[in-house]
Amino acid sequence: MASDLTRRGFLGAAGVAAVTGTMAYTAGAKGAAKAGKEEKIKIVGISCSPRPGKTTAQGLTICLDAARKAGHNIETELIELGDLNIPVFDPAAPGSADFEKVAARLSDPKVAGIIVGTPVYFGNMTSLAKAFLDQCMVFRKKGLALSNKVAGVLAVGGVRNGGQELAIQSVQAALLCQEMIVVGDGRPTAHFGATLLNRGDDISQDEFGIKTARNLGRRVAEVALRVCGLAG
Ligand SMILES: Cc1cc2nc3c(=O)[nH]c(=O)nc-3n(C[C@H](O)[C@H](O)[C@H](O)COP(=O)(O)O)c2cc1C
Repeated sequence: MASDLTRRGFLGAAGVAAVTGTMAYTAGAKGAAKAGKEEKIKIVGISCSPRPGKTTAQGLTICLDAARKAGHNIETELIELGDLNIPVFDPAAPGSADFEKVAARLSDPKVAGIIVGTPVYFGNMTSLAKAFLDQCMVFRKKGLALSNKVAGVLAVGGVRNGGQELAIQSVQAALLCQEMIVVGDGRPTAHFGATLLNRGDDISQDEFGIKTARNLGRRVAEVALRVCGLAG
């Protein structure tokens, strides 16, 4: 049973049994490969900044560019929650139409990896990020549809050591509750995720932060390819 798999065994087994989401995709991808077709997986960036197009979106764009470079069979998409109506989660109320559209996109078996980006607000994630992650309760109720998808987290702060790692760990806690495979930024930086510094609504001068964003995007993509049995 999938729930009995260890993470090591899970990652090592190219032909693991298909159960949900990404794993169902694995079987499809292998069949397609045999038939000579080329299948793609998708990595989705989710910006939880109330300000679309600003530094969180810029950081995620760097991650997604690096993810695409990790394999010819990788597509990416950026979803900006700041453009949408994602209300505070109320267990007694239905989710918003906008959240349902996002949930449908994330449930797509082709989506093998998700990178959540948040600005640091007072040492933590934004209320928009928390609202989104709480709305994701729907996935737990629907057979853990995010299970076995790979997850990484990016945080942008206005100062160095402004709480980027605290915000990342808060988001990671919620993603672990979805049975996602949570990874950090890959080597050589290899820590908790992408940690960026915003100077005047610009991250382009933050050389180290940009490296962590690239390494996170590449790491999410590489692990997703392995989980899907598509690693070279
Ligand atoms: C309410 C609020 C609280 C903030 N708290 C922090 C903080 O604790 N640490 C920090 O480094 N930056 C803090 N900032 C700065 C933002 O994290 C930073 O400007 C970030 O780049 C904004 O992301 P965006 O460009 O995607 O909107 C705060 C900004 C706001 C509006």
